[in-house]
Amino acid sequence: MSIIKFILFTSFLFLTFSMKLDSDFKKDAHWTFYTKFCFDKSSTHYGNFTWDVVVNHDAYQWAFYDDNSNSWPAVYDSNENCNTKVSKALATSYIDTFIPGYYEFFDQSRPRFWYFALANCQNDQLDMTYVDIHIWNPEASKWNKEFSCNEQGLVALFLVFMIFFLILLIIYSIAAIKIYKKDSLHALARLFLLTIYLQTLGLIAIFAHFAAYAKDGKGSFGLRVFGELLEVVSAVLLMFFVLLVAKGWLISRNFITRKKILFGVIVVLLLLYIAMHIVGYATMNRATTTYIWETVPGIIILCFRVLIMIWFIFEIIRTFKFEEDPDKKRFYKLFGFIFSVWFLCLPVIVIIASIISATYREKTATALILVFEMVFYSILIYLMWPSRTDKFFKIRLYGTEETMTLSSNQTAERAFDEL
Ligand SMILES: *[C@@H]1O[C@H](CO)[C@@H](O)[C@H](O)[C@H]1NC(C)=O
Repeated sequence: MSIIKFILFTSFLFLTFSMKLDSDFKKDAHWTFYTKFCFDKSSTHYGNFTWDVVVNHDAYQWAFYDDNSNSWPAVYDSNENCNTKVSKALATSYIDTFIPGYYEFFDQSRPRFWYFALANCQNDQLDMTYVDIHIWNPEASKWNKEFSCNEQGLVALFLVFMIFFLILLIIYSIAAIKIYKKDSLHALARLFLLTIYLQTLGLIAIFAHFAAYAKDGKGSFGLRVFGELLEVVSAVLLMFFVLLVAKGWLISRNFITRKKILFGVIVVLLLLYIAMHIVGYATMNRATTTYIWETVPGIIILCFRVLIMIWFIFEIIRTFKFEEDPDKKRFYKLFGFIFSVWFLCLPVIVIIASIISATYREKTATALILVFEMVFYSILIYLMWPSRTDKFFKIRLYGTEETMTLSSNQTAERAFDEL
């Protein structure tokens, strides 16, 4: 119960925080970063930037910079004054209040990030109310034209994986119903079912956001946050599941060993994930390119994951030694090996992604992470298949076979309710 309360509380915090966070817009300055966007490559493709805003002075202008080292990187952090910064822009455009304007970007030899700064060199209070800004790649395909090129293709990616996970969910639900009819459903099987369900639901929500975004360039921010929250909870539950198996809970023992450490690890992990997403949203339109795994909490998660892996190996070896049933010993060996790889996958993917150019980094990392998740979920479904749960997921601790089965089911149910 307390865990559920905790999850509700933190998700509430997460939602309220992420709604309030904005870009790096500075009000008391002559010149400020507004947003960034990546335009497609090609000789005919061009980007389009339109605005309809209200400003309080007639000297406002947009200043556009690209990602070449003498453009944005040289201007952003420098101490030059407003006029010098504006003069270094590749293009500028004055803003008329109430009159919508647009600017087209032509001829690029490669996809590149453009940075949009707002300047008013005559007044040091930047004030822009009623903002309607739309940036897009007019010549890209129907599904991609609203997206900055570092995000193009994500709709298709989420569509594909949403379908894959729906299939996995259906397959495992059928298996779970089968087990349930024969015997009651093992607590670990329920936890796993919940994890895969949340993961699928999260993917559906994120896909729905991207699909809406493809249409109107806005999407549904709430849906995206909701989807990511589900993904976070599912990722943490999966870690919980893996650690419970390593401890032989309801497989070799009917109680959780070193419970406090386990819950501590899970809570810290959950907080880190939430922090990572909050920082991720805060830096989403950031003047210097970052993506979520390169934020400080993201890096801590990756290091923490390696520590948890060491603990996981230690636990599973202990359980392996404790267990006497040869089938179960084999199961622990297999599980220990496969999930040590699982622990390492994420850090390796992030390291690989960090050497890829910023335009492709996020897409590549997302695709790889989803592929690996799918593989490991499939392996888990295989291991948790009804024919195997009979062999592996039964405690043989007390009395005769029959009473044992009975007691394990009751313990399982009670244990699950305690959660
Ligand atoms: C850019 O947007 C403006 C305003 O909506 C429009 O008039 C113009 O045709 C657009 N350019 C392209 C290339 O789509």
